[in-house]
Amino acid sequence: MTALAHTLFRRAALCAVLPCLLVACGKQDGGGAATAASSATAAADKVYVVGTDAAYAPFESQNEKGEIVGFDIDVVKAVAAKAGIEVRFVNTPWEGIFNALKQGDRDLLVSSITITDERKQSMDFSDPYFDAHQLIAVKTDSKIARFEDLKSLKVGVQTGTTGDDAVSKLQGKNSTDIKRFESTPLALKELETGGVDAVVADNGVVVNYVKNNAGNKFRTVNDPAFAPEQYGIAVKKGNADLLGKPAIEHAGVDSQIEPRTAPSRQRRVLLD
Ligand code: ARG
Repeated sequence: MTALAHTLFRRAALCAVLPCLLVACGKQDGGGAATAASSATAAADKVYVVGTDAAYAPFESQNEKGEIVGFDIDVVKAVAAKAGIEVRFVNTPWEGIFNALKQGDRDLLVSSITITDERKQSMDFSDPYFDAHQLIAVKTDSKIARFEDLKSLKVGVQTGTTGDDAVSKLQGKNSTDIKRFESTPLALKELETGGVDAVVADNGVVVNYVKNNAGNKFRTVNDPAFAPEQYGIAVKKGNADLLGKPAIEHAGVDSQIEPRTAPSRQRRVLLD
């Protein structure tokens, strides 16, 4: 992707990602009006597969019926409705999620994915749609007061997340005190059973967990040292033609997405 296209895409409104895929990306079989028309038709029938690690409430989780629900899901549904395309959410373990995008097994990823420079090397992101930061979960009676206090304590994280990065930086990547789990709920379970002294994960998820845990067994510890993070929808790297379309930039995030996601947005107030 050219630098310009890349910049345009980064500046593009969130909901523009999908129209772009719909109209221009198709399956990319060259230029010409006829080709463009037929790939637009083909694209109209296509169901875009959205990968998400649905163990991250309130952003993505599975309800009693096994349906994938949450804030991120509402965002993508609103985007898809605006684009007039169909999407299907597929629960995808975090561990393999970026590879699934790369291999073309998923068309999009929405999974509270923090936009990082490193990830930008291997995938493209929509504009940020949510602000976040790391937050520490501890037992109520814990003496932990700030991130530094975790330096020589046992800390649970989800492998390969920005929480993992933060703790790896504090303790050293190879520290045996870092307990890595394949999901954040598993790390939090470990906190409950006393296997770790703290868990570091995204604020929304930690707050949600502490709030919903009967008996006030846990509390959160914030630290201004945590870097600001922003979530983006990821797409496979390299769709320069699509990502540079002016329509992308002018798609109406506010008018189209806000009303549709209002109930979820209200939950945001609950975050912290
Ligand atoms: N925001 C963090 C990151 O991008 C954690 C995301 C984890 N998402 C999930 N659905 N498990 O690394």
